[in-house]
Amino acid sequence: MDLKGEINRRRTFAIISHPDAGKTTLTEKLLLLGGAIQIAGSVKKNKIRKTATSDFLEIEKQRGISVATSVMSFDYKDNKINILDTPGHKDFAEDTFRTLTAVDSVILVVDSVKGVEEQTRKLMEVCRMRATPVMIFINKMDREGKNPFELLEELEKELKIAACPFTWPIGNGSRFKGVYNLLTESIQLFSSGKTSLSEMLFETHDISDPMLKEHVGEENLRKLKEEIELVTDLFESYHNSLYREGYLAPVFFGSALNNFGIPELFETFITIAPHPSALKTVERVVLPDESQFTGFIFKIHANLDPNHRNRIAFLRICSGKLERNKMYFHTRLNKKMRFSAPASFLANEKSTIEEAFPGDVVGLYDTGNLKIGDTLTEGENLHFSGIPSFSPEILKEVINRDPLKTKQLEKGVIQLTDEGLAQLFTQQPGNIKIIGTVGDLQFDVIKFRLEHEYGAKCDFRPLPFIKACWLTSANKLKLNEIVNRLSNTIAFDKSNTPVFLAESEWMLKMAKEAHPEVQFHNSSEFTAK
Ligand code: G4P
Repeated sequence: MDLKGEINRRRTFAIISHPDAGKTTLTEKLLLLGGAIQIAGSVKKNKIRKTATSDFLEIEKQRGISVATSVMSFDYKDNKINILDTPGHKDFAEDTFRTLTAVDSVILVVDSVKGVEEQTRKLMEVCRMRATPVMIFINKMDREGKNPFELLEELEKELKIAACPFTWPIGNGSRFKGVYNLLTESIQLFSSGKTSLSEMLFETHDISDPMLKEHVGEENLRKLKEEIELVTDLFESYHNSLYREGYLAPVFFGSALNNFGIPELFETFITIAPHPSALKTVERVVLPDESQFTGFIFKIHANLDPNHRNRIAFLRICSGKLERNKMYFHTRLNKKMRFSAPASFLANEKSTIEEAFPGDVVGLYDTGNLKIGDTLTEGENLHFSGIPSFSPEILKEVINRDPLKTKQLEKGVIQLTDEGLAQLFTQQPGNIKIIGTVGDLQFDVIKFRLEHEYGAKCDFRPLPFIKACWLTSANKLKLNEIVNRLSNTIAFDKSNTPVFLAESEWMLKMAKEAHPEVQFHNSSEFTAK
């Protein structure tokens, strides 16, 4: 198959949700549908995010929380599906945000009982920032949840996206029977498949089919007929360009646990979800069908083997073809590199691949050369942009507990923050190291890893800051002036950009008002500098 054919058959996406909405269950059911796993129960028991596959870190196993983002690839009806798994825990939200830079679309799972939740909103904001196409799966329809009309309104209001229902639930709670396909005006009823694929029990294209009443009950059918008339009047009709530009979300109802609504979701997904498309670099736009290879690193996994301090860097291929053992150009280090064992992943298996195409994600073994945001090419000096670093919410000073291991501590802190585990800021005078995170859990992870991998001991001293804002200004003199004047609340990130450390929203507001010529940014970019 030629390069264009390979690109057209790829769908690279992430399933995202507020914890417990059913992301893991849905992922597992898609793997089942794609034949990538045989029994749902085995994976489900440990939850995909808790299996040894994605848990490269000892600490993850201990805590049962996946810090990792792994990739699941399989073929489905001539399509190559790449699902990028994201950590469920909110303390690792930043990891999820970065993974979203490597996908072409997302499926957002919403719990029908709880509706839109805190993480749902945050994730949607990141999708909006990047204009990522979003499909929504309203899960757990087998529970007594909110009314479907209410849910659609809530999605529109809270997520600021037009909701376009593609399926409609037949009954709900214990009376939930399946879904009506609004596009094909048909119904397929399945047996409930908690651990295996469902069996189709009944299919009809005629809502007046007398057998339908037998299957779903008179009351459910009457309600369905009323509701589908209403729904076509009330909600946006589908426009492919609005979906592709991130303004409209096709919405599907179902129950991941029972397999209801999933075939409808997945069939539509492979038909309308985008294949890999153009991506921006600082220098120019890169098209996927360019013959020369390009790609960027969006995630680093460490500690595969504590004795060797091995890491796996996850590379998203953006154009051309990646080949094993070929020389590539690392644009930040201005250095050639060769990868003898690029890996692909599926559930418990890792295998070496010979080649990979745009949209694919491969794992590259690394001993410390690769950093999040790095670009690899065949020689052109390009830098992919838009890999964000968000303002941390918790900031703590690193206190060295073993002066004999100062060098190890420095190295460890730099390498762990290069992996994107947390952000490092330095404050002068005194070269004070400040770690910033979105959740408290990362401090435990960093402490554990510094001790086990680098032999360094540290404590963290809480600092009174709630936010770090990156400062820029066209007027360099003014910028220097504020940096000097506010030196107690100024630190520098790894690329030496000044950040303002705010003790409260009020202090931030005051600083902004006092320095109108300086811009305060809530996010930076991990572009290689
Ligand atoms: P997450 O990855 O988004 O965190 O959610 P996950 O799939 O782990 O699902 C969270 C809980 O919701 C699980 O129950 C799961 O079985 C349940 N669930 C998922 N889909 C459905 C559904 O369609 N209907 C109903 N009723 N429940 C659903 P748990 O008790 O926390 O875990 P487990 O013991 O079942 O693994």
